[in-house]
Amino acid sequence: MILNYSEISQRERTNLLYSTIIPRPIAWIVTEDNGVVNIAPFSFFSGISSSPPVVMVAIGNRQDGTPKDTLRNIRNTKKATICVVNENYFEKMKSSAEPIPSHQSESEVFDIEVERVEHDFPPAIKGVESAMFCKLHSEIEFEGNTTPIFLEVVKHFVDDSSMIDESLKLNLIGRIGKTFAKVIEIE
Ligand SMILES: Cc1cc2nc3c(=O)[nH]c(=O)nc-3n(C[C@H](O)[C@H](O)[C@H](O)COP(=O)(O)O)c2cc1C
Repeated sequence: MILNYSEISQRERTNLLYSTIIPRPIAWIVTEDNGVVNIAPFSFFSGISSSPPVVMVAIGNRQDGTPKDTLRNIRNTKKATICVVNENYFEKMKSSAEPIPSHQSESEVFDIEVERVEHDFPPAIKGVESAMFCKLHSEIEFEGNTTPIFLEVVKHFVDDSSMIDESLKLNLIGRIGKTFAKVIEIE
């Protein structure tokens, strides 16, 4: 069957794309707003280039058309810390996607411990195997309801035990459709 995107509903388009572009890595993004630590997961996330070291995250607007806290904070501070998600953090990662008022911190509401690793970047989620400290590179004006932003990785925390031959061996989870999967290596 051929599905013509101009003839199907937005819901059908979303479902097709969500279930085709898999597995998607999860950027668990920490930002700050005048001392309030904001945490949220994003899976429209990918690496774009290693030189310069840039990743892309597409952040949709809220239903009322206003930007999500993560985008607003990145625009204001030009900084973000992107943490990876392994199985241990599965439930906390999902809970951090729930909308809460901007003046409240997901760190406190959902008991997600953070620690300041680099003084000039938002904190990292305590215990993650990898966290990238990023500055805003650029954002694209886009039709529709989403804003793709590019973040340049300035520093990278890696758990020493995950580092093997200059690469990281991580036990991450990714998003597949509406559910999740473990990333397992095959040869
Ligand atoms: C696994 C997962 C992936 C998500 N990916 C995205 C995404 O790529 N873009 C997006 O706008 N929202 C995504 N969300 C929803 C946001 O996490 C959610 O809207 C969150 O409340 C935003 O929080 P904020 O207002 O603190 O930024 C995702 C949620 C989950 C659970």
